[in-house]
Amino acid sequence: MTKQRILTGITTTGTPHLGNYVGAIRPAIEASKSDDNLSFYFLADYHALIKCGDPDQVHSSTAEIAATWLACGLDPEKAVFYRQSDIPEIPELCWLLTCLTAKGLMNRAHAYKAAVAENEEAGEDPDFGINMGLYSYPILMAADILIFNANKVPVGKDQIQHVEMARDIAGRFNHHYSEKFVLPEAQVDEHVAVLQGLDGRKMSKSYGNTIPLFLPPKKLQKHINKIKTNLLEPGEPKDPETSTVFQVWQAFANAEQLEYMRTQFADGIAWGEAKKQLCALIDEEIAPAREKYEELMAKPQEVEKILLQGAEKAREFAKPLVQELRHAVGIRKLS
Ligand code: TRP
Repeated sequence: MTKQRILTGITTTGTPHLGNYVGAIRPAIEASKSDDNLSFYFLADYHALIKCGDPDQVHSSTAEIAATWLACGLDPEKAVFYRQSDIPEIPELCWLLTCLTAKGLMNRAHAYKAAVAENEEAGEDPDFGINMGLYSYPILMAADILIFNANKVPVGKDQIQHVEMARDIAGRFNHHYSEKFVLPEAQVDEHVAVLQGLDGRKMSKSYGNTIPLFLPPKKLQKHINKIKTNLLEPGEPKDPETSTVFQVWQAFANAEQLEYMRTQFADGIAWGEAKKQLCALIDEEIAPAREKYEELMAKPQEVEKILLQGAEKAREFAKPLVQELRHAVGIRKLS
């Protein structure tokens, strides 16, 4: 049986938080363990440049995200784990795709449209502050996906449109030149929790409501204490369904622990106590990874080596495909 190719990219801006861990890192690493799958996971550092002009931030975020995935148990022997900018075939494919992508398709991209709408609302020129990277980034994302002929692309809901665009672009290439690309599919796992942040909205860097993944335990507790609760006193029964503390508990608990906390809520556990237990539960799961993370962050040369090996592995797929594509579009030797 040929393996399903699963591919996803992580933009290298910011520090991984609990929401990233629960919603993306943990399930992706789980999926990579199956022998039915071949996983391609990569650091999307070219994508980072679209929204971040701070070189130090792009650089440190790349190191942190790489160390996080390895510390959480991604096996770089089994999965293909690489940095986008180590694969020159990706920007090359991006150009081939750019030349057959309709401008009108890019006009319809949500991220671009949202930026235009924001400008219009502020009374600015519609294109104010919008670079060509943002405008055409669905094409770069299509190149990321198509270069490895990925079947499944696990993403958050906000990225479904981009995967559909990659499909459109692949179909157009296949139709105009010849069948070169697999049509990828977005995979939105409904079972995976979308973690709530400190204010109860989706945990997201853009809302400033995150809990970083690898905080020392004391700081972790401090952050957890900031999770918004209501004014119910100790002894008053609390509703698990509307509680962020319970929702986060659920993302880390086994069936027994889940039942336990449900009972505690009914019995009126104090918020402070619930938060203490929540911190202990999270810490139990992530403490070993945190230790590994600290080790890896202290040895960037080791992480670098792993990434370069990953790039080599990735290019074994990418190089022959780009050769074929060049030929297909007419970029060929003269004799
Ligand atoms: N754009 C994605 C995000 O912001 C990250 C990404 C880049 C990606 N290339 C990708 C995701 C390819 C899946 C496949 O989340």
